Amino acid sequence: MSDRREPDAAVWWQHGVVYQVYPRSFRDANGDGIGDLAGVLEKIDYLSGTLGVDAIWLSPFYPSPMADFGYDVSDYCDVDPTFGDLATFDALVAAAHARGVRIIVDFVPGHTSNQHAWFQASRSSRDNPYRDWYVWRDPKPDGSPPNNWAATFGGSAWQRDDLTGQLYLHSYLPEQTDLNWRNPAVRAAMLDVLRFWLDRSVDGFRMDALGRIAKDPLLRDNPVNPEATGDFHKAMGDYDRQIHVNDQRHEDIHGYLAEMRTVLDRYEAADGRPRVAIGEIHIYDLSELGRYYGATLDELHLPFNFGLLKLPWAARAIRDHVDAYEASLPPGAWPNYVLGNHDEARIATRVGVGHARLAMLLLLTLRGTPTLYYADELGMEDVPVPPERAQDPWGMRVPGLNLSRDPERAPMPWTAQPNAGFCPPDVEPWLPIAPDLAQVNVETQLGDPRSMLSLTRQLLALRRASPALTRGSYRALDWPGLPDTCYLFVRENAEERLLVALNFGDDALEVALPDGLHATLLLSTRLDRPEAAIPGALALRPAEGIVARLA
Ligand code: NOJ
Ligand code: CA
Repeated sequence: MSDRREPDAAVWWQHGVVYQVYPRSFRDANGDGIGDLAGVLEKIDYLSGTLGVDAIWLSPFYPSPMADFGYDVSDYCDVDPTFGDLATFDALVAAAHARGVRIIVDFVPGHTSNQHAWFQASRSSRDNPYRDWYVWRDPKPDGSPPNNWAATFGGSAWQRDDLTGQLYLHSYLPEQTDLNWRNPAVRAAMLDVLRFWLDRSVDGFRMDALGRIAKDPLLRDNPVNPEATGDFHKAMGDYDRQIHVNDQRHEDIHGYLAEMRTVLDRYEAADGRPRVAIGEIHIYDLSELGRYYGATLDELHLPFNFGLLKLPWAARAIRDHVDAYEASLPPGAWPNYVLGNHDEARIATRVGVGHARLAMLLLLTLRGTPTLYYADELGMEDVPVPPERAQDPWGMRVPGLNLSRDPERAPMPWTAQPNAGFCPPDVEPWLPIAPDLAQVNVETQLGDPRSMLSLTRQLLALRRASPALTRGSYRALDWPGLPDTCYLFVRENAEERLLVALNFGDDALEVALPDGLHATLLLSTRLDRPEAAIPGALALRPAEGIVARLA
């Protein structure tokens, strides 16, 4: 691949589309009501062929007590029996690779499960060799925790362990014990975990909660937040009452990221297969986000850009974000966009089902790598979960703020049959099936040429075939009098020039195109217009988006 690189050619993680599978919710192959790796394997042709994505990111499938549904790992180098075994994982990688699809696994570096053997050893005594693999401190003389740090999932980030009378640090649940990345033995062990999966042929990693791997070495208090509103895009209760400057993102993180990157680069240099490091780090300040590519692009290939999750769904706000993001990127850095994931309300719920089509068009036409969350291709909405079926510990520990992530984790609807073809009809799925199953399922939407799934497939096909969309430049168009609700941009490279026009408003728009701009319609979110020359003015219906070829 590398010997064919033209100046503007791109590697798979640049021109490709990443699809996130939450394995618990995708397809249950063995009929216990919980999705598994064999289920993903069953659906590989849907992903590679029907849909046509380039890479699958698998949320954690490692052995875990499932306190946080796999983000509490008790063994980094195996598969939880709920999800299958290593042989099934290998078969999935082989099937994906045979179809040209890459596999990205989730890497959870910041914390293990409290059931991990490392933590079990660490807690056993103050002088155990693993003691310093985690962060242990004495309480203050009055018995209170060593500092004021709050856990994301509620309460103090410190938990007392009576066995030794000290407290350990946990940025999330008490069952998710923070590793001490300042200990070189911990870093070496975690780099070995990367090697373990690289040896099993994975193409990259989505790295979890990276900000947490580097904290203030003196463990100083976080300052109080007078606003009591977080920088994050949702209200998180007491967690928002402090400014999280000391419990995350210490400057040393950059060295740690470079160490991880070196491991990936060595594999890439050895066999010529590009690997990707995608980082989950919630930073909304764009110049700060840009620093996570590394001073010499030697850290993350793609620090997740969560800007679209936080912004109001409005043309100007989004255009301003994209323009600012483009301008903020360090030379050579590659952009990326995220519209949804297993921690966020679904896009169709956030912006409405009609606008979900517009959102998909935006995601798949902007410059950079899109990450698509499972079932968003169907326009699936959040599924209400009654209290007696609640699963997410966050929602339960911090009640009243709508923090539960259960609604966006409902089973993938494959058919209109009972239990959606996710699991057998007589088995209770781990989360409820969506109530609008009759329309929102793969089978029904495949049979409907105007469905959201048909739109997503067409957009993916258009994108794949288009050099301008996969690797061309981006330039927003604006002129006095352009309606506020309209966002126009051009994607172009030496081979083609495309116009993307999005109407974020709920009224129809007529946009007079500048003289000399001759456009031919290629695709509309409504999927009801034939390819045709666009006269001098572009007519956009409410929430309609189009892609057109420019002469
Ligand atoms: C971010 C993950 O996306 C989320 O699901 C998880 O709960 C936390 N990190 C802790 O690992
Ligand atoms: Ca199962």
